[in-house]
Amino acid sequence: MTGAHVTAPSSARLTKLLRSVTHDHHRALQTLPAFELLLRPTLDVDTFGLIQTRFFGVFEPLEAAVLRTQLWPRLGLVPAPRAPQLASDLVALGYHPHSLPRQPIAGPPDLAASAGIAYVLEGSRLGARVVEASLSTHRWYQGLRQRFYDCDASVAKNRWQRFTTALEHNIEPVHHQNCADAAKHTFTTFHQWMSQVDADEAICDQ
Ligand code: HEM
Repeated sequence: MTGAHVTAPSSARLTKLLRSVTHDHHRALQTLPAFELLLRPTLDVDTFGLIQTRFFGVFEPLEAAVLRTQLWPRLGLVPAPRAPQLASDLVALGYHPHSLPRQPIAGPPDLAASAGIAYVLEGSRLGARVVEASLSTHRWYQGLRQRFYDCDASVAKNRWQRFTTALEHNIEPVHHQNCADAAKHTFTTFHQWMSQVDADEAICDQ
């Protein structure tokens, strides 16, 4: 058998493009008060709740927008939505997630744009173990049974591998720029929305 039917691209071109065009966006996001506070040793449960309510308001509508497209069937992957975990975490914290303010999402994204959005949402799973390790140091966190950041590292890596491989196979080069623009726009959307968590508004000691 020759390689005539092998459709795998020779290198991970799209993944490299997405990583390079969003590198600075990721950096900028991590320096926002919301994410700095999340990793702070003095984080308290009220501030944690505030950050999570805000995060839900942008994560849930973006994830729902992707789920309404044909992206997952096209990639041949089973969707693994995380907003339901976030919602149940919020309920455990005493919030009503479905009455929280949400980021409005413009129109249904096309396939390449939904791939760009999914890149950001799926990628956020990779940093979860860093956040979980920090959260686990707090007494108040232990016993709260929060699931959102509680990702098994090898499961997350494996899913990421399958996701990025599927992107390479299914998003044609002509659509790569559209996908990259959507990923950048998604990071910007997260940034703007999460900027509204102000360090001054947070309750934990500076
Ligand atoms: C305190 C917050 C965060 C930390 C500490 C963090 C940390 C990390 C780390 C360590 C990785 C690389 C993991 C690896 O290569 O195995 C990563 C990747 C990534 N993170 Fe974050 N992250 C944070 C927040 C976010 C958020 C909020 C988003 C999106 C909304 C995000 C999106 C991504 C993406 C898309 C990647 C994949 C980059 C690539 O390799 O192509 N991260 N993050």
